[in-house]
Amino acid sequence: MLVYLNGDYLPLEEARVPVLDRGFLFGDGVYEVIPAYGGHPFRLEEHLQRLENSLRAIRMEPPLTRRQWREIFHRLLDPLGDADQQLYLQVTRGAYERRLHAIPGTVTPTVFVMSNPLAPRDPELVARGLAAVTLEDIRWQRCDIKAITLLANILAQQQARDAGADEAILVRDGLATEGTASNFFLVKEGRILTPPKSAHLLPGITRDLVLELAREAGLPCAERDIPVEELKGADEIWVTSSTKEVMPVTRLDGRPVGNGRPGPMWQKMDALYSACKARLRAGPTNQCHE
Ligand code: PDD
Repeated sequence: MLVYLNGDYLPLEEARVPVLDRGFLFGDGVYEVIPAYGGHPFRLEEHLQRLENSLRAIRMEPPLTRRQWREIFHRLLDPLGDADQQLYLQVTRGAYERRLHAIPGTVTPTVFVMSNPLAPRDPELVARGLAAVTLEDIRWQRCDIKAITLLANILAQQQARDAGADEAILVRDGLATEGTASNFFLVKEGRILTPPKSAHLLPGITRDLVLELAREAGLPCAERDIPVEELKGADEIWVTSSTKEVMPVTRLDGRPVGNGRPGPMWQKMDALYSACKARLRAGPTNQCHE
């Protein structure tokens, strides 16, 4: 498998970064995960816009133009045929001559991109739905930045696993915010709800698409704060991400969500989402664009 590193295309085994890289020393960097269907990156402009926002927030300039990113993605994807892929890109502030907390004046960013197969969702898991637990959000105040510094997310994910669950829904000041690597939606009395964008959650590309698809299909939806108690009375809960797509959550904190099975609104949304992917596979000139 070829990967991109600082201008070169080389086998993954040969890709090396210096130990003084600030990504390695401090987690000083940002990333994106972009699905690609039929060789076409999904919602590419939205992902690149979020990358630029993350970079600006950590006081970095975009190291490449959108056109250059596009070229790299196609160079990696084209030899892989039509199989679904996930592009992973990471930009760190780069390697400085010594370990220094302050941002060095001159340092060259490290840019890394790889593509890995995006395995189809396990149909049994989709049919059964995920189990989730609620956990206190112990992260920082800038969860809108897609930072590579993911220790709190990792610990929360592992805590969920230890409890026999697949995902944790994080709670801050009594409000449910997002999953450890996903956004969440709740369905109550026919209305689709998700928390508004804020510094306490990542503005998910899948989240935005779900809202867009709901509005296009005339499904009632709203962005508003969701107190954690509301999760208990939800008819349906979903988690969304570029790799999970829209997954039903059928157990929360050991109790069934609604009737304990993936709900009818989820079925509608999943069908809309799948149709969107199918249009992109057929060619990039449509609303679910590259
Ligand atoms: N994570 N919230 C968090 C904390 C996330 O890490 C992610 C995605 C999302 C969903 O964002 P999107 O719909 O743009 O994928 C929300 C990626 C997939 C990851 O870390 O692998």
